[in-house]
Amino acid sequence: MGCQYFDPCDHGADTFTIAIPKVTFGRGCLREAGARASGLGMTRVAVFTDPFLRDSAYVAAVLDSLKQAGLDAVVFDEITIEADDASVARGADFIATGNFDGVVSVGGGSVMDTAKAAMVYGLYPSGDFLDYFAPPLGAGKAIPGRLLPHLACPTTSGTGSECTSLSVLRINNLSTKFVLGNPLLLPQEALIDPVCCATLPAMVVASTGFDLLCHALECYTARAYTRWDKVDDPGKRPLIQGANPWSDLAARKAIEIVGEFMERGVNNADDHQARDQLMWGASLAGMAFGNTGTHLGHALSYGVTHLMHDVTTEGYAVKSPFVPHGISVVVSAPAIFRYTAEAAPERHFEAAGYLQADLQGAGSADSGEALAKRIIELMQKTGVPNGLNEVGFGPADVPALAASTARQVRAIANSPRETNRVDIENIYASAMSY
Ligand SMILES: [Fe+2]
Repeated sequence: MGCQYFDPCDHGADTFTIAIPKVTFGRGCLREAGARASGLGMTRVAVFTDPFLRDSAYVAAVLDSLKQAGLDAVVFDEITIEADDASVARGADFIATGNFDGVVSVGGGSVMDTAKAAMVYGLYPSGDFLDYFAPPLGAGKAIPGRLLPHLACPTTSGTGSECTSLSVLRINNLSTKFVLGNPLLLPQEALIDPVCCATLPAMVVASTGFDLLCHALECYTARAYTRWDKVDDPGKRPLIQGANPWSDLAARKAIEIVGEFMERGVNNADDHQARDQLMWGASLAGMAFGNTGTHLGHALSYGVTHLMHDVTTEGYAVKSPFVPHGISVVVSAPAIFRYTAEAAPERHFEAAGYLQADLQGAGSADSGEALAKRIIELMQKTGVPNGLNEVGFGPADVPALAASTARQVRAIANSPRETNRVDIENIYASAMSY
């Protein structure tokens, strides 16, 4: 008998696995980078960052700390803001030829995700880039051996990649994103310094904040792990194993943090308490979804970034077309939770409460609407696009969006409610504006 948990079924899993790195959190903790890298056995370090951060105080602090610890460090910064297979190929060359014994990544999700995948392809080149991706897109080949020790240092409060075994990559010739997931990709340590968030533009804090919120909400409302098939071989237990008692803890706290601090953190760069809390919430949400998987919010976001038209976002120095990841997720989120609530009304009701929704007189039958309304309120108070219309989509785009999203098979299956192509079309159609 496993942990007592909701929604068990006869063939369902009775065991779950939690994988998280050693985490250090605190203002100024980047100065520990040298000691921590040295403790992981590194002597010659590949430092991954991006061109925007290359000359920042944060990268300087890390390099200085590595130097003080007597470590040799070489910087790689040829990473695009949406990590893609081309960035990974360049990073893989860097790893393959650099004679490194460790990796330190300093940046947002794109940097950390590129560092993870660059180790895979640099150490174990594959004939086809998709070999290590799960079917039906990839060949599902095993990564042949361990990667280098990895110390991940996030500089935004959203992705949670420092705490996950996942790398989200844009595959350029398919012009959409897919997730490379493998326990070997989990960083050994994370060094989370909220000082990095102090200078982020408001729209970056908003986008990454909604990313962390959707990670947490999708975990909390995901299909229970007891509804996924039992596996006899522990090596075959999926990373996307569904909601579980651990992810509930971390997701709940992350949702509470967004409910209390999101508006303050976005609208006031000097509100250190709020921005520090959002950074902690992002890591908690990463610890949750890395062991649970997301569901429809992220699945539908990949349709948006696949098919986006001429569109830009303030606060991002990226040329059109570009919709930041967190915004691509949240524009459909209210419509999604209105749809999924009937399959797990209590979970949606609890999540709405954690997010500080107005639940006066409401019961669990109203949970989808209450949660959707609170998300919409936060979207409006932080100035993010108010639905798909404001990121350039209209009703005529719905069939193509749904067709693109249908490829995200595993995430769709992690939804608490069985979801087909027509359901996805209906969700997109009702996510045009709120
Ligand atoms: Fe995300």
